[in-house]
Amino acid sequence: MLFRYEDSSHVTKDEVAAQAQHLEEYIKRLTKVAEADNYMYEESSINLPFDESILEKIHKLKSKYVNSNLKYVLDIGIGGSNLGTKAIYDALYGYFDLIEPDRYPKMIFADTNDPTYIYKLYKFIKKNIKSPEEIIINTISKSGKTTETLVNLEIISSGIPFAKDRLVITTSYNSDLWKTARSLNLDCLPVPNKVGGRFSVFSSVGLFPLACLGIDLSELLKGAMEARRVCLNKTVSKNPSALSAIIIFENYVKGKLINDNFFFHPELESLGKWYRQLMGESIGKDGKGITPTVSIGSTDLHSMGQLYLGGIKDKLFTFISTKNSGANISVPQEPVIELLSEIEEKSTSEIMDAILAGVKIAFAKNDLPFIEVILDDITLESLGQFMQFKMVEIMYLGHLLGVNAFDQPSVESYKQETRKILLEK
Ligand code: PA5
Repeated sequence: MLFRYEDSSHVTKDEVAAQAQHLEEYIKRLTKVAEADNYMYEESSINLPFDESILEKIHKLKSKYVNSNLKYVLDIGIGGSNLGTKAIYDALYGYFDLIEPDRYPKMIFADTNDPTYIYKLYKFIKKNIKSPEEIIINTISKSGKTTETLVNLEIISSGIPFAKDRLVITTSYNSDLWKTARSLNLDCLPVPNKVGGRFSVFSSVGLFPLACLGIDLSELLKGAMEARRVCLNKTVSKNPSALSAIIIFENYVKGKLINDNFFFHPELESLGKWYRQLMGESIGKDGKGITPTVSIGSTDLHSMGQLYLGGIKDKLFTFISTKNSGANISVPQEPVIELLSEIEEKSTSEIMDAILAGVKIAFAKNDLPFIEVILDDITLESLGQFMQFKMVEIMYLGHLLGVNAFDQPSVESYKQETRKILLEK
């Protein structure tokens, strides 16, 4: 993964050096958390990729529930309980589900309680699932109390006669959901108490459903481990998480209140939404915050490009692209409609590279600050690396902003109010 900012971020070397001093102690703290190798600290999610006991539990359950008849992994959870899993699934498979109809198993997500979607999903499962081995229902809720998740669990389960035999619950050890599920003899996977939902992708929350698809978790975790090593480097100039946090912070101070993450691969849109939650929920508090947005290149140049280039200059952009875009195909030598001679025989990756290069020049000419993150490719290792890099970045950013990056008091307040309204009905 390459991280570039020097000529484009509008942050000087002196500014980086000044903020680096403010991170010195915090980098030491994260190093201590890593050495402790436990779940006693708010930042302990950085230890998840190294935890072999989680993998042991997951592989045990996987061998109980997965065989070649498995068609659907139903992932019931919301926010931090499903966004990371969806980011990885969509990057590798989900974005292509419609044009790869024969690839199984597939993952189906149920997060909000949209009446039409849940009704159609209920009907679909009822009609298409013929035997228990075809489905796993993984319900994920750290608190065990989230209304949307419990509603979806109850509705979907009521449509499957053998639901209890195919239910795996992921929740905190001490939640009521854990206790009830265990009393019903359901299989449960724990989420460490100190690991918040948005930092939990490398716990059972993300790893179990992904493992059920046959994903090689060691590749994903290899990327995350490597990123943790690099992102705890006390030399800030060699630490991409610290650099990224400093550049976002400095731009915030200079009035860039929006951080747009511009992915030049549409299959990474869900990764953008995962990051949106990570940034939004972690630093949006105490009257402070940077609004994270997601754009897709080149699609959104045709909808947002005018605003970005010609409108209000309130944004810092992060362009996310890859060195190696994977499969590739070219415009034929003899096109059906010969209109643009410059595209003949050009591959789609050459075209996308040219678009991104053009965008960077246009943004620089318009005095718009940007950072570049260039992934090696879209593989499990690169995704693991990117996600760990961003989680540590947000810890540093919370520290620079002086906010607690690990709580979400305002989200809790809507949950309580909803429960009160439902109880009164
Ligand atoms: O990051 C968070 O803590 C939240 O987004 C939660 O993950 C989300 O509200 C769902 O909560 P729970 O996992 O308790 O059902």
